[in-house]
Amino acid sequence: MRNIAVVGTGYVGLCTAATFAHAGNRVVGVDVDAEKIARLTAGESPIFEPGLAQLLREHWRTGRLAFTTDYADAIPAADFVFICVDTPTGANGGADLHHVRAAAGSIARALDPGHRTIVIDKSTMPVGSGEAIAAILHEASRADAPFAVVSNPEFLREGSALHDAFHPDRVVIGSGDPAVTAAVAALYEPFGAPIYRTSLRAAEMIKYASNAMLATRISFMSEIAHICDGLGVDVREVATGMGMDTRIGPQFLKAGIGFGGSCFPKDVKALAFMAEEAEYTPQLLHAVLEINREARRSFVRKISHLVGDIEGATIAVWGLAFKPDTDDLREAPSLDIIRDLLSRGATVRAFDPVAMEAARRVLPEVVYCADLYQAATGADAVALITEWDTFRALDFALVRSVMRGQVFVDGRNQFDPTAMAALGFTYRGVGVSLVQVASLADAGVPVPAPVSV
Ligand SMILES: NC(=O)c1ccc[n+]([C@@H]2O[C@H](COP(=O)([O-])OP(=O)(O)OC[C@H]3O[C@@H](n4cnc5c(N)ncnc54)[C@H](O)[C@@H]3O)[C@@H](O)[C@H]2O)c1
Repeated sequence: MRNIAVVGTGYVGLCTAATFAHAGNRVVGVDVDAEKIARLTAGESPIFEPGLAQLLREHWRTGRLAFTTDYADAIPAADFVFICVDTPTGANGGADLHHVRAAAGSIARALDPGHRTIVIDKSTMPVGSGEAIAAILHEASRADAPFAVVSNPEFLREGSALHDAFHPDRVVIGSGDPAVTAAVAALYEPFGAPIYRTSLRAAEMIKYASNAMLATRISFMSEIAHICDGLGVDVREVATGMGMDTRIGPQFLKAGIGFGGSCFPKDVKALAFMAEEAEYTPQLLHAVLEINREARRSFVRKISHLVGDIEGATIAVWGLAFKPDTDDLREAPSLDIIRDLLSRGATVRAFDPVAMEAARRVLPEVVYCADLYQAATGADAVALITEWDTFRALDFALVRSVMRGQVFVDGRNQFDPTAMAALGFTYRGVGVSLVQVASLADAGVPVPAPVSV
């Protein structure tokens, strides 16, 4: 049993704390948010993440997990300190590290000079942050308490965060000291994942490059979807055919309204900022971000085009969270899309299984509904934004009957266009419409000629 402190008890910190407690360690979570700590101390999870509340309660009972606002209760006894605080986008587009610096200062002041503490950067931090944290620890620690700093980026996905934390594809550990790397690797032994040992800076870069790669695939498919729309091709068939190539693989090829959440947008922006700082113009990263913004704008244009006049129209928005199985609204496409609809004079009626409480705080003008049917009542169009599983098994005849109009715009290509048309909907997906080449030709619409080879 090792003593671990986890600084920052958000999505990453709580999953880190719960999984290491489950692996048999004694873990204390520290946060500056007293309300969050009060809820955690009362055995309640402040966030929605499948399985997390149960796991927190289990280890609250085993006594292996505790929470505090006081660094002095957590740091002196800890052999390992994970930094899991938020690193949001700063005013210049780069990562804002003021939470990281504050956390490092507080850790430094509480370090016990009697033993070496390994401080592990799990937050996503720009290249060079590990060295900056070491400098803060060195300056602010009492009596030169011995410490080491390691970069160990987190790759979990909200919605399956616990599964990912227990079964990581790989654990990246960046440090200049093989003994320190070995100590951190031993901590991860119960999870049986491959360990990749790197330099500190390479570990920091691996995290940014990985997120940028995934975001690029999403924006790439948004671009292909637009081209498919113009050429009467179903992008889902294209994605399946592409994904069968082992060099490409099937993951992250689903076209839709792009990416959101607390990581991809901010990490791509931060990487672009790092590139500019290093005097390189990251053209691809800028394009990835712009295509993502355009995916949201073109979704609203599609609704507007189908509804006729958006001013005075009622639009039902199904799903608010940036992805299913989370209540996280950070950079969610729903926010931009709803703001755009409202600014054009629409009334928005929305439903989400878990994110409505958070949405009410940022979008008070929206009519929040008890379920999908209530949201669709009187609507000219339904816009599906988050592909919650519970949205699949629906009584679509009832949905159709309570609506004023018949437009269904599917931002996640969740439904079958033919079946939706048979139910009487005017259905459009993203790169998927009923108007494929054959029907275009049947309708006498000019179809681009096949390219001669
Ligand atoms: N959310 C994800 O899916 C995910 C995945 C991988 C990596 N990350 C990275 O992990 C980091 C944390 O992300 P998150 O989503 O868990 O953030 P979060 O906003 O959910 O949680 C951060 C927590 O840190 C606390 N905090 C801030 N300053 C503090 C301080 N000085 N001392 C103690 N606590 C402090 C906040 O009160 C908050 O509870 C970020 O760098 C993020 O990019 C997130």
